[in-house]
Amino acid sequence: MKLVLVGTGYVGLVSGSCFAEFGYDVTCVDKDKSRILELKKGKCPFFEPGIEELLSKHRDQTKLLSFTSSLPEAMEGADIIFITVGTPSKRLEEDADLSAVWNVAKDIANNIKKYSLVVTKSTVPVGTTKEIKKIISKIVPKENFDVVSNPEFLREGSAINDFMRPDRIIIGADNEKSTKIMKELYRPLYLLETPIITSSIESSEIIKYASNSFLATKISFINQVADLCESVGADVQEVAKGMGVDKRIGSKFLNAGPGFGGSCFPKDVKAFTSSAKKQNINFSILEAVNSYNQNRPLEISKKIINLKKYNKNSKLALFGLSFKPNTDDIRDSTSLKIAQHLFDQGIMINCYDPVSNDNTMDLFPKFNFFKNAYEASEGADAIIIGTEWNEFRALNFLKLKSLMKNLVIFDLRNIYNKQELSDLGFEYYGIGK
Ligand code: UDX
Repeated sequence: MKLVLVGTGYVGLVSGSCFAEFGYDVTCVDKDKSRILELKKGKCPFFEPGIEELLSKHRDQTKLLSFTSSLPEAMEGADIIFITVGTPSKRLEEDADLSAVWNVAKDIANNIKKYSLVVTKSTVPVGTTKEIKKIISKIVPKENFDVVSNPEFLREGSAINDFMRPDRIIIGADNEKSTKIMKELYRPLYLLETPIITSSIESSEIIKYASNSFLATKISFINQVADLCESVGADVQEVAKGMGVDKRIGSKFLNAGPGFGGSCFPKDVKAFTSSAKKQNINFSILEAVNSYNQNRPLEISKKIINLKKYNKNSKLALFGLSFKPNTDDIRDSTSLKIAQHLFDQGIMINCYDPVSNDNTMDLFPKFNFFKNAYEASEGADAIIIGTEWNEFRALNFLKLKSLMKNLVIFDLRNIYNKQELSDLGFEYYGIGK
């Protein structure tokens, strides 16, 4: 089977390299020529554990993976074309910006020469895949193509494992022929007994938004429980544990923290609310999730300032800048939002992230950047754990003690034990404790 993935972002490159690992002939296309040049040289445009090895394995050894900026060249003999371009939030609006999707659909239509399946893997609002069908059918006879919705659920930081061992595969199709081709495509996952769920195209599109929005709601829910725990002397981690063992609830995505961030949850919650609004449905739960989550970084920064009366003479060390560990992605990073609020009050920010210092420097040039956690902590009035990178779980606190001006820790990811840190002489503040 010959596959083409249009768009070399997270979803495109991870899916492309994993499909090559399944044994398919894969071409990744992007109109960004410099990105393609870098990919041909072996450079991945983002940090993701294992991706460079997989890309180079299939580019150089198996030769199953190639890159090009020419869609006509890529589509030569292609059986399945995946749309994997970004669908960011529109500026000043809740809607997803689908301009890249529409452009790609037109380009694909202009290059279909034999029967092909056009698959939306990008997260797209309900109705988009049928709209793509309309666009293509203006140029291509209907017997020469079908459209399918096949959303991707991979998480940054564990993307390859998520793709290779998914909880489920969703195939949204409107006929048997395309469902059959898609089932064949995912045959390598049969050994793992991965559930393959078939549905209408519309249901498939909604499954993706509803899943992300539900998880985001779960996080906001536990964060509000954390607020209550803080006020009454309870511990949100104990509460989450007690809730999570109930199989109907489940323990995942019940970690209280500074709020959800990243390139998916914030935009997907907004876009899903907007899809509902267009049908005159008031998705009030999601509106609450969105506004609570948007305010949370400001509320947390106020709490930090008020607890210790920080001012323009204060210096805080911030550990972790990416929106989650194992990625260099700083889009909608709550750690950085909190840092910005603190900085706006005149507080000096000394930061360190294992991989995201360089990404952050350009956007936050007034923060100070350091090569490791210890250098960032010199003379600091407190440490803030913004992102729970593993290396922050094993810090040398005796060394930190000798470097810091005041022994205070704001553990926004609840990775430490309060008693242990108190015993070491630190004043400890977690979330919901
Ligand atoms: C998410 C979905 O999980 C994935 O299925 C989809 O394909 C893309 O969006 P991702 O954004 O990569 O993946 O990361 P995820 O691990 O889901 O975390 C999202 C945000 O929620 C992060 O800011 C994270 O810190 C936060 N989070 C997650 C919590 O605050 N608490 C939790 O318990 C879990």
